[in-house]
Amino acid sequence: AGKEKAEDKKVLQVGTEATFAPFEFMDKGKVSGFDVDLLNAAAEEAGYTVNIENTGWDAMFAGLQSKQLDIGMAGVTINDKRKKSYDFSVPYFESTSMIAFKEGANIQSAQDLKGKKIGVQNGTTGQFAAEGVVGKNSSSISKYETAALMFQALQSGDVETAVTDIAVALEYVKNNPKSGIKTVGDDKEFKPEYYGIVFPKGSEYKKDFDQALNELYDNGKYAEIYKKWFGK
Ligand code: ARG
Repeated sequence: AGKEKAEDKKVLQVGTEATFAPFEFMDKGKVSGFDVDLLNAAAEEAGYTVNIENTGWDAMFAGLQSKQLDIGMAGVTINDKRKKSYDFSVPYFESTSMIAFKEGANIQSAQDLKGKKIGVQNGTTGQFAAEGVVGKNSSSISKYETAALMFQALQSGDVETAVTDIAVALEYVKNNPKSGIKTVGDDKEFKPEYYGIVFPKGSEYKKDFDQALNELYDNGKYAEIYKKWFGK
C-alpha cells in the first residue's frame, strides 16, 4: 500500500454531515476537520484516495445501505443497533454526550433536562441520551436534521438546551464566546462512546482501513492530527 501512483488509486466515495466542527465542517467550500485529515491519512496509508461529500446525515446512511457510498465519516458512534446494518472500523475517538444550554436555564445535571425544551440532531446519540432522561416519545425533544440547525434553535431560544457530542459542544462555545451558551457534562448519566469509520455491511475496505488506523496510531500520525485539532 502507498506505493501506487496517484492515478492508479481507487477513489472511494465518502458521505458526511459537515456541520459538526471540529470533526467535519465546511471551510471555503470544502469539507474540513479532524475526521477529514484522519480519513485522508488512513486512505493514503491504505493506497486509496477519498472523495468526501457533504451528503447530510440520513443520506449518508442511505448511501451506505445502497452501496452508492463506500464510507461514512461523520463522528459516528459505534453501537449495537448500527452494527446490525453497517460495519465499523476499529474505534478512532472517544466521546460522550454533553448538554449545552442558554445562560439562565439553570442546568446542573442531566436530570435538569426534565421540563426543558431540548434540541438534538435527529438520529444521533445526543437524541438517545436525552431520551434516556426524559423518555423516548417525549414532546419536549425537538429533532433537527443537522447539528447546525440544532445550535441555531438553541441560539434563537426555540429550545433551552441541546444534547450533542462533548467536543462539538465545547467547540461551539469556543467559536461563539458571546453566545451565552454554557455546557455541562454528566458522567453518571452519559456513557463513553467511540467513533468509527462506517462501511456498508461486508465491505472489502474495512480491513484495509483498520490496518491503516493501527499504523497511524503506531507511527505518530494520529497524534499529529489530534494535536492539530485539539491542541494536546
Ligand atoms: N456521535 C453521534 C452519533 O453518532 C453524533 C454524530 C453526528 N455527526 C455529524 N456529523 N453531525 O450519533
